[in-house]
Amino acid sequence: MITTANNLKVMITGEQIQERIKTLAYEINDYYNGEEIVVICVLKGAVMFTVDLVKHLNMPLKMEFIKLSSYGNEMTSSGKVQSFGAHLEEINGKKVLIVEDIIDTGLTAEFLINHIKENYKPKDLKFCSLLNKKASRKNSIEPDYYGFEIDSKFVVGYGLDDEGYNRNLNYIGYKEV
Ligand code: IMP
Ligand code: MG
Repeated sequence: MITTANNLKVMITGEQIQERIKTLAYEINDYYNGEEIVVICVLKGAVMFTVDLVKHLNMPLKMEFIKLSSYGNEMTSSGKVQSFGAHLEEINGKKVLIVEDIIDTGLTAEFLINHIKENYKPKDLKFCSLLNKKASRKNSIEPDYYGFEIDSKFVVGYGLDDEGYNRNLNYIGYKEV
């Protein structure tokens, strides 16, 4: 077990992440078969994953960025979606791939999928998450694509934060309790 200078245990190394991204991209390329897509990156957590993933995608694509202004249980009642520099109308009639950092309870993913379906008319909508905490799910949401299934531990790094810190790590780590 590797312990880093900041007392985190390494759960998934940077190399493992990059290797998995290549195989995921292969699956995604295969599904879309060269057809144009819009990739929607969910800020801030999915930023590292999205930029690494799209480098391996081979179809014409546009990137959009959205941010959710509330989290967790409040999401279903008061969740707001902000889009940046973006014309989310871009997605009308297009195939859309939402890219997230992690699915935990599944409430965020459910909110987002419903938001997109209610406000826009994508021709096809898929959800890709780097991490999947299957055991924590409070609904029946499953990502179409995911990188790694992990235990219900709080993880940081590679975009995921603890009160804003540690997004910059190139690996996924956790604190030993
Ligand atoms: P959900 O709505 O419970 O599925 O949670 C999704 C959001 O919670 C993610 O997009 C993350 O922002 C955050 N989150 C859930 N688990 C973790 C974690 O282990 N580390 C950091 N953020 C997390
Ligand atoms: Mg997030």
